[in-house]
This record gives sequence, structure tokens and C-alpha cells, in this order.
Amino acid sequence: MDNSKIKRYTVTAALPYTNGPVHIGHLAGVYLPADTYVRFLRANNRDVKFICGSDENGVPITLKAKREGVSPQEVVDKYHKIIGDSFRDFGVSFDIYHRTSSQMHHQTASDFFETLYNKGVFTEEVTEQYYDEKAQTFLADRYITGTCPKCGFENAYGDQCENCGSTLNATDLINPKSTLSGEPPVRKETKNWFLPLEKYEDQLRTYIENHKEWKPNVYGQCQSWLNAGLQPRAMTRDLDWGVKVPLKDAAGKVLYVWFDAPIGYISATRELFEYARLDVWNPKSEEYYINQNGVQKGNWEDYWKDDSTKLVHFIGKDNIVFHCIIFPAMLMAHGGYTLADNVPANEFLNLEGQKISTSKNWAVWLNEYLVEFKDKQDVLRYVLTATAPETKDNDFTWKDFQARNNNELVAVFGNFVNRVVVLTHKYFGGKVPMLMDVTPEDQLVIDELAAAPAKISASIEQYRFREALTEVMNVARIGNKYLAETEPWKVIKTDEDRVRTILNISLQIVASLEILVEPFLPFTADKLMKMLSYGGHQWEDAGKMNLLVRGHQLNEPVLLFEKIEDSEVEAQIDKLNKSKDDNIKANTIATPAKENIDFEQFSAMDIRVATIIAAEKVEKTKKLLKLTLDTGIDERTVVSGIAEYFKPEDIIGKQVSVLVNLAPREIKGVVSQGMILMSENANGELTFVAPIENHNNGSIVR
Ligand code: 2FM
Ligand code: ZN
Repeated sequence: MDNSKIKRYTVTAALPYTNGPVHIGHLAGVYLPADTYVRFLRANNRDVKFICGSDENGVPITLKAKREGVSPQEVVDKYHKIIGDSFRDFGVSFDIYHRTSSQMHHQTASDFFETLYNKGVFTEEVTEQYYDEKAQTFLADRYITGTCPKCGFENAYGDQCENCGSTLNATDLINPKSTLSGEPPVRKETKNWFLPLEKYEDQLRTYIENHKEWKPNVYGQCQSWLNAGLQPRAMTRDLDWGVKVPLKDAAGKVLYVWFDAPIGYISATRELFEYARLDVWNPKSEEYYINQNGVQKGNWEDYWKDDSTKLVHFIGKDNIVFHCIIFPAMLMAHGGYTLADNVPANEFLNLEGQKISTSKNWAVWLNEYLVEFKDKQDVLRYVLTATAPETKDNDFTWKDFQARNNNELVAVFGNFVNRVVVLTHKYFGGKVPMLMDVTPEDQLVIDELAAAPAKISASIEQYRFREALTEVMNVARIGNKYLAETEPWKVIKTDEDRVRTILNISLQIVASLEILVEPFLPFTADKLMKMLSYGGHQWEDAGKMNLLVRGHQLNEPVLLFEKIEDSEVEAQIDKLNKSKDDNIKANTIATPAKENIDFEQFSAMDIRVATIIAAEKVEKTKKLLKLTLDTGIDERTVVSGIAEYFKPEDIIGKQVSVLVNLAPREIKGVVSQGMILMSENANGELTFVAPIENHNNGSIVR
């Protein structure tokens, strides 16, 4: 969008599901880039509303409630508070942190649905869905488990097999069971309302193709959805938790969570304008208002229905289709709304080399971090921005966290600022000295400083926050190098005026750093402001040489960052491993034994010792390896869903046990003859089952 046309910004951050606290992956992928962008816009005096809230509807919430034996309302109340507190404590500066269980949201989503219904947008379709007769309820796909028709894994979910990664329909499962009652579900007809996405295909294609500037991962995913052809999608569900479908013949049905969640951005904006208050946390309404300056000027519609508003959605990569295809189709169907100008979705952050997993407790939870690293919000903000998964998945490790803190924040940024302020106090009583004669070397530094803000702006405007942060750190590096080269602590003995100039320039760099670092590290900026006894600057002031006037009195120096010791990060690594072990133990005990079988059934299985003699990945799959085995009886191919755990080159030569008389079947174009036996712990981690000492291939396991 042409910058000169922009009058205001609506910036949204994905509404987190309130079925657990938020972790570093959320912060790195969505909330930090969004907050940095918004703080940058505010520093540039732009009119911006930063919108977020809790996503409190949908199956993830009801599942959590069932598991904990409490009501869905109790679940969302608990996590809305925990999540909202974490965001506030990390300085994520939403204008409103709303919630989709609110009256305003129910009304807004319901009205939106009604408008589409009255316009005749939806098609009504009767389909067969699984129904649990004992629990007397329709079952969402996640509530059904059974055997995967593709790989034979017995605990596949109705929507996905976690073993082979296939996307499934619950009706594909063999021997389906309801997780509510344990009973096999029955098929029952039910009517739902579908959004015919295919009707918006041309309009969506035009929209997407007008945004070739989007990140390649986002643009590419949109193209592949469009190329595959869009299908009608149900916008209502048979569920008892959520926004009721506002139609007469729709008892027991709610809006599909991905229909109402993005409308949550709109309802939050309405709430902000219609009930703006000063409270940070309003216990009565259980809603957050952060950075509120009283009643808002203007109207919520300006932020959603005006072409001069730039709408940007910050999300994680698993949300792309909902924000780039389905929500725009909803807005097109409704009419009157502007569409997102950009959707800078990030990839995923891993933790110590493994996927972050809420259920496996493999995560760094923000609420816990704040207890263990009190007042170190900016260290995490820094590390997560510096390693943000902007273009590919990235890894967070505690060692890297420590190294970046010690070698960059402490040794570069903190050290520079501290030396400048300490020396100013030591030589000039804390008063900003006068700029005297400027040497050519000084001028180079002044020019570099002047050029930095534009570079940083350009990176931020293109959603390249890592690059922008590197540029900010480069300003601190310039300052550090300047001090090292000019050595004011030596020059003071012979030429006080020269030291005045060096410290004046250095102090102007510090003052600019305060402005430049604020979008990234707001707590540090705040400390700097206090230390410099200065504030109220705009982005456009950064890089200038007159931010601190001669004679201005500084406050005492405070340390911005402190060293993190080995023991502190080792404790975190131990904690992770321990929680993983505890989790394995807890889950292992909970898995009940299967029903008895007789000896004949057991001995019908022909299990042999074999050796893997070749291994390669099955093309276009993430999880499958094609293994060639010497079974002692023959050489054969077995396809196994273990590629995420083992590299082909690491397992060649390994002995394994293989079920050789399993009927052959074709998996992704390869005929698999048999099945390798694996042990799987509750975390889904796999290891081979093999004789403890090498045995001849073909030896019988019984
Ligand atoms: O993936 C999620 O966590 C969803 N709750 C995101 C919703 S974003 C939006 F549309 F509200
Ligand atoms: Zn499978």
C-alpha cells in the first residue's frame, strides 16, 4: 500500500487459544514482531490500533475442560488471565486484549453470520457425522480415535494421523472410538451451513496476486490452496460451546471457531471504541485495556471499512489459510470491509532442537520465565527477535540465550552505555559536555549514526525485524568502537576539550539508541530514558546530534544488563529434561493395557531379526523412510514412519525386529512388506526394538 495513502493502521495479533499459557514460540512468532511494528508506528506518530484477545471457543477448549474435569468457562477464565498477564508483563502493548466469550463478540459474530445468511451466501448441507449415543453428542474429529487407514497406527485422531502425518476424515478411521465414552460412534445426519469458497476463488486470486510482495512462505501457501481448487467449508458445528448459530433450526450448533475467531479482531476494535476505559485490568469485565488513553477518538469502522486504513495480521504459519483465504472470503461475502494489506506469518520456533509441544511440556512458558528471570523481559525479547523464525523454522537454545545476553547485550550495548554515562559523571559531574572541534573520524561516526534510522525503518516496514535489530546493535557497536579508538580515559590527562567532544558524540549515540531500541526492548529504553533524564522523542529525532543539549544533567548510571551464569542456563536445561521425564512417566502409567488375546493370535505373527542394509527418505513425505532389510529369508522393502527421528545414514547396519507376515501394502507409491517394531514413549519418541546382542538375521522373535 502506498505510504502516502495510509491514514491509520489496524494491526492484529492472532488470538491465542485459552487452553494453556503462552510460550516463547508464540512470542517469537507473533507477538514480538507485532509489538515491535506497532511501537515503531507509534514512535512515528502514526494512528494505530493494536488488537488482540483470547480465542475462547472451539474444540481445543472443550477438550482441555474434559481432560481437567472442569467447565469450558473455567478453562478460559483461568488462561485468559494468565495469558493476558504474560503479555502485559512482557510489554506487548495492545490497545485492547479482548476475549471471544464476551457479549460484544457473541453479538458481533452472530450479526456477521446473520448478514451472510440473509444475503443467501451460505449453502445448507446435510452430511453424516459421528455421534456418541452414550454421551448424546456429535463428535468433533479430534474426539475420535481409531486405526489409520494409511499406516495402520492404532491411535490416529479423526483429523490426522500423528504417525504418518496423513490428513484424515473421522469417517476414514478403522474401528473408530469416541474419546468421550470409549464406545464406537454411530453416523448420524446433521445439517450445517457452508461457505462456498469456490465462488470467491477469482476474487481471492486477484487479491493474492496483487500482493506479490508478501513473504514467499505466505504467498506460496495461498497459491497452492488456490491452485488445488477451493471447496465449500462448514461454518457451523455441532458443539455446545461457542457462539450459537442465530437461526431457528440450529439448536445445538455453534459457529465454526475459525469463522468467529477472526471476527474477534473486529469485536475487540468495537469494544475498544464503544467502551474505552482507563483500566489496565478490569476485574469486573475481566478484560484488559493496555495503553489506554481514555475514550478513543473516531469510530471502529474507520479501522475496518476505510481504504486508507492499512490492515496487517501477525500470525504463525499454521494460520495462513484462515487469514489469507477464508477470512478475506468472509469479508468479501459480507461487503464493506477492507482486506489485509499484509500477513507477515512466521515459521515455527523449536526448543533445544525439538518441536515445542504444549502437551509434552516441552516449552518455555512466559509466566514461568518471568519468575525465574525476574525483570529480564528484554533479554528474552532480544534473543527471540534476533533468532526469530522469519524465513525458516529456527531453534531456541538456552546456551544461545546466555551467549547473546553476555556477548551482545552486556558486552556491546550495556558496556557502551555504561562507559559513556560513567565517564560523563566522572569528568563532568554528569553534565552533557560541549561539542568542540569535530575531527574527520568523528564526522564518520556522526554520519553513520545519521544513516542508521532510515535503514532500521526500511527493515521494519518490510517486516524484517531481525535485520532491523542487527542494525540497532550496529549503532551500539559503532559507539563501542569509537570509544575504544578515541580512548577518552587516556586523553583526559592531556586534552579535556577533546574528551568533551568524544563524550558529547557518544551521549548523542546513547540518546539515539534509546529511540531506536524502544520498539524492540521497551524496558531498556525506559531505563535509558530515566538515566538520561530525557524523553518524549519521536523516531524522526533519532540519528540527530542535538538530542542532549550542553549542560543537561544526567542521572546516575544503572546497569542495563547483567551476565547470565552457566548455572542459570544449566538449571533451565535440567528443568526441561525433568519435565519431559515426568511427563513420560505420567503418561506411561496412564496408558491402559489392551484386551487379552490367546496364544494362537500371538503366534500368528512371524517376527524376525533383520538388518537394515539401505535407507532413504520417501520423496515428498516428511515422516517416511524406505528401508531395505536383510531378513535372513529374503531382502525386502519396508516403509516406516520414522524419518523425523532417524536419519537414513545413521541407521544403516542396525539390527531390528520385523513383522514379516504383515500383508504387503502400498504407501505413497512404495510397496511395504512388513513392519518394523518400534517402542514409542508417551512423548511419541521412537526407538528400535532389537535383540540386545547381534543375532543372525532371520532369527525368530517370540
Ligand atoms: O492458532 C490459534 O492459536 C488460533 N487461536 C488463532 C486464531 S487467530 C484469529 F483468527 F483469531
Ligand atoms: Zn497413519
